[in-house]
Amino acid sequence: MDASELTTLLTPEALRLLRDLPPYENETDVLALVSRLRKDGHAPGLVATVLTQARLRKRAGAKFGPFANDMLFTQAGLEQATRLEVAAQHAGRFARAGCRHVADLGCGLGADSLALASLGLKVMAVERDEVTAALAAFNLSAFPDVTVTHGDATEADLTCVDGVFLDPARRTPGHNNTKRQMNADDWSPSLTFAVEAARSVSAGGIKLGPGTDRELIPDDAEAQWIAVGDDVVEMGLWFGSAKREDIARSALILSSSGHHELVAPADAPDAPVGELARFVYEPNGAVIRAHLIGDLARRLGGHMIDASIAYITSETASPTPFARGYEVLETTTVDAKTISRALASHDMGRVEIKKRGIDIDPAEFRKKLTLTGSSDGVVILTRAGTRRVALIARRIENLS
Ligand SMILES: C[S@@+](CC[C@H](N)C(=O)[O-])C[C@H]1O[C@@H](n2cnc3c(N)ncnc32)[C@H](O)[C@@H]1O
Repeated sequence: MDASELTTLLTPEALRLLRDLPPYENETDVLALVSRLRKDGHAPGLVATVLTQARLRKRAGAKFGPFANDMLFTQAGLEQATRLEVAAQHAGRFARAGCRHVADLGCGLGADSLALASLGLKVMAVERDEVTAALAAFNLSAFPDVTVTHGDATEADLTCVDGVFLDPARRTPGHNNTKRQMNADDWSPSLTFAVEAARSVSAGGIKLGPGTDRELIPDDAEAQWIAVGDDVVEMGLWFGSAKREDIARSALILSSSGHHELVAPADAPDAPVGELARFVYEPNGAVIRAHLIGDLARRLGGHMIDASIAYITSETASPTPFARGYEVLETTTVDAKTISRALASHDMGRVEIKKRGIDIDPAEFRKKLTLTGSSDGVVILTRAGTRRVALIARRIENLS
């Protein structure tokens, strides 16, 4: 969105029109809507701007739920925004640390500030991009204790705050949004600045991508990987009183059954490697990223199938929110005909194909299978020792 679209959007006429639009459903409805709004005398630029917002609000529902209907977005801002349930975790850290006034340096559209303000904290939000800052001011306007400043985070005066949160931009503005910048000093603000700022106050937090190089984790930080269901969404670094005592690594899973967390004072020691057993567990990505897989294996009374493959195996079925569990019914060679025969003998026709530690494209491999059964099954293509194996399995209940 450029400055002139912003000017169009922030007019009473555009905001009224946006409020009164029917719920955005699909592109066909939109065509009819455009002609109706044009017939009613609204200018083409205004109609386009308002419908873009309606489209973004619908998409934003996945991150913000019903709050999306009272917010304004840019596409890039929405893609980078923290989803509200995760922002609530960030805000909770500052509240538990006893903070009263938190700076959100590079606030984007304001999702994290929104969560902080919802917990009654004062917020000083700073955003360098002018359009984004204006939209953040709109999104946060219901909170009297929030200020939004259009400016550079690296020049913010932090003397009045006791907490600092940073979510550095890790994409190149104006370029393909999926292309991440790789160098931590190219992030904006840079990681060096972010760590210094987070350490300069009583409680500091930095949100980074889940795949961030572990070498970049400072020794004095708690690193927490958060997954929403199976989707690992971030690694957070927590400093000062936002860091929990004796915890340096944690994996937090937010799922429909609640919040589940594994914590440890350091990377967990690896679990031993052993024979493939009756049950196989595929740990949640947050557990893998946090290097807590050894702890999970010990909890499950299991061991690894291979030192380099993130599957745990055990003789017992232990439902857990930290992994998906499978009962192995049969082990075969990695051969499509043999696997098809085995699946047929278990009446499995709807199969999920998983692979780890083996160079096979599951989508291509599926085309080679003949599926005749009527029940659900799972084929796990992996290695056991030096052998390539296919595990014919079924899911066991987990808690997520
Ligand atoms: C990943 S987004 C933040 C998203 C935000 N946490 C949310 O959930 O809505 C990073 C933001 O930092 C802003 N930014 C980058 N460098 C900045 C700087 N030096 N000062 C202020 N803002 C900056 C970018 O414009 C971008 O909007």
